Amino acid sequence: MRAKARAHPNIAVIKYWGKRDIERNLPAVGSISVTLSDLYSDMAIEVDTTLREDVLLVNGDESRSMLARVSSCVDNVAGSDRSCVKITSDGNFPIAAGLASSASAFAALVVASNAAFGLNKSHEELVNLAGRASGSAARSLLGGFVELENRDNEVVVGNLLAADDWPLRIIVAITAPGPKPLSSGDAMEISRKTSPFYDRWIEQQSEDLTEARAAIQDRDLIRLGAIAEHNCLKMHSVMWGSRPPMIYWNSATIACMQTVRDLQSQGIPVFFTIDAGPQLKAICAPEHEELVRDAMAATAGVVDVMVSGVGTGARLATT
Ligand code: DP6
Repeated sequence: MRAKARAHPNIAVIKYWGKRDIERNLPAVGSISVTLSDLYSDMAIEVDTTLREDVLLVNGDESRSMLARVSSCVDNVAGSDRSCVKITSDGNFPIAAGLASSASAFAALVVASNAAFGLNKSHEELVNLAGRASGSAARSLLGGFVELENRDNEVVVGNLLAADDWPLRIIVAITAPGPKPLSSGDAMEISRKTSPFYDRWIEQQSEDLTEARAAIQDRDLIRLGAIAEHNCLKMHSVMWGSRPPMIYWNSATIACMQTVRDLQSQGIPVFFTIDAGPQLKAICAPEHEELVRDAMAATAGVVDVMVSGVGTGARLATT
């Protein structure tokens, strides 16, 4: 009655922003992401009938603030009449800082819970259970380039390319490692209720998905970069136009965007994307990794740089 799973965060090139059903946490739009290889979350879960409530350890310390969301995800997998569990979460990158830590953590948690309780849920069920905990987590069940599509009352994920098909490098420029002030889920709701740009965002998403899908199939970095930057900046425009406005960037985020623009003007194929946090992710081919990494590291306000390849989906690990 114990199991451990590893999953990697994913970075969306066409973003999920907005929910169509809050109760079931169903996204309002489809999205496309790339799963990272070098960043990970490990979730170990042990059923313990002597416990009176679940226990969560995050990187060695007991965490009560995240326990409710984690326990509810285990309830969704194993039923709320289940025995209590001890969950141990370990990762190698900052949590809740716009680096998709919830995606990797919940993807690993559903896989580990399914095994620890001896259940035999299908891949499709695990995708939807992960997505219910965090929309982006559904995508971390798979590796490579992943598209999430909406169906009536569920989501479906599929591979556009496997991890080895297009070996891009993702350079993450950390400009502030602390937790973000507002969760993505809360920010999405403020956007839906108040942003004058929200409806146009939803309307245009299928065009952006079509363009990105074609660029990925052709392995065309410049074409993918153009649509990914557009989609990212459009998502942030929705946030900036909300009331209250939501600005996740800091001055270093903008300096990093300028660094990417400078590299592009020198003819280097690289593009950026930014999620609900101040970190910037630059994506390029392996031959430009060193140049892009050094340029990001030299940008004013960058406190750390992490580099990753394209990774595989969530899987069980040895305990
Ligand atoms: C900006 O998946 O964190 O990273 O479903 O409320 O947990 P919840 O939201 P979450 O939102 C991710 C938003 C994003 C874009 C993306 O990853 O597609």
